[in-house]
Amino acid sequence: MDTALKLQLTIEDMVDDRRGILAADESAPTIEKRFAAINLKSTEENRRTYRSLLLDTPGLGDFISGVILFEETLDQKNAAGVLLPEVAWSQKIVPGIKVDKGTEALPGAPGDLITKGLDGLADRLKLYIDKGARFAKWREVYPISASNPTQLGLYANAERLAHYAITCQELGVVPIVEPEVLMDGNHDIDRCEEVTEQVLHAVFQALLQYGVMLEHMILKPNMVLPGKDCRTADPGEIAEATIRVFRRAVPAAVPSLNFLSGGQSPEEATANLNAINHLGGPWQLSISYGRALQQPVLEAWQGMRGNVEAAEIALLKRARLNSLARQGHYQADMEND
Ligand code: 13P
Repeated sequence: MDTALKLQLTIEDMVDDRRGILAADESAPTIEKRFAAINLKSTEENRRTYRSLLLDTPGLGDFISGVILFEETLDQKNAAGVLLPEVAWSQKIVPGIKVDKGTEALPGAPGDLITKGLDGLADRLKLYIDKGARFAKWREVYPISASNPTQLGLYANAERLAHYAITCQELGVVPIVEPEVLMDGNHDIDRCEEVTEQVLHAVFQALLQYGVMLEHMILKPNMVLPGKDCRTADPGEIAEATIRVFRRAVPAAVPSLNFLSGGQSPEEATANLNAINHLGGPWQLSISYGRALQQPVLEAWQGMRGNVEAAEIALLKRARLNSLARQGHYQADMEND
């Protein structure tokens, strides 16, 4: 199939006005941390069981259109012996793959980080395509301080995202481009707005230079939020700052913006998405949540077979409420339903 057509069909399968993306691509150290919180060891079998639970949840495909997987999950099967990417697609959830290899310090820019994994990326993508992946994800991370991100940090991280994105598109894989401005710190919402705008301008400049087709990518941005150690802001204030920045920096050709949750509570992440959708924009405004979808699932499951149904109910609840928020129809009292 023609590469552009392949990309277009994947976008059509992933982007609509009700559904969002589930990020279940925790790397080995991250899933170990998540499991430790429920006193569960991160064995291959426990990871397989947990990720099968997520994808086997009946009805998940009503609210979720794509799932980001970690490498090992592509080869794992559910209890019925079906490969997990096929389980996802049986619910019309497009399987995708995290392809970055985590961050390291950026030389020459104290305090900034840069993401590893470009070496051999095209060869790895070909293997992932054979295993069913139709989209990919790459995350660059931007800590905020008085002096970060630096100009070099803005440039180097944007360059890497663009290099990754064009590599994906040339192979017919839709790139999720994730520049994450972190919530850590005591900066206020204005500082997050300023940094997010700088980051997005640099990212779209690099995407343009590399010839990335904006119609065939998904942006996974942070919301504009005050730092964790600053006062909180209400959803209206967050939505205004977030939409203001995107209108300035994100071309309307990008079909969908799928927010990360970044350490917000599940309820905050849903309420903020709802407020953002009240303002709206030329793009679909949806989710690509990891923690904000999965935290209640892990709490309900506790690694026990007898809790699977409760865990599925917890996942469906968050997925459904985010689907409502995505349409601007969420109300806080729905949390008690
Ligand atoms: P959170 O929603 O937990 O931030 O995770 C999303 C993600 O995939 C980060 O790369």
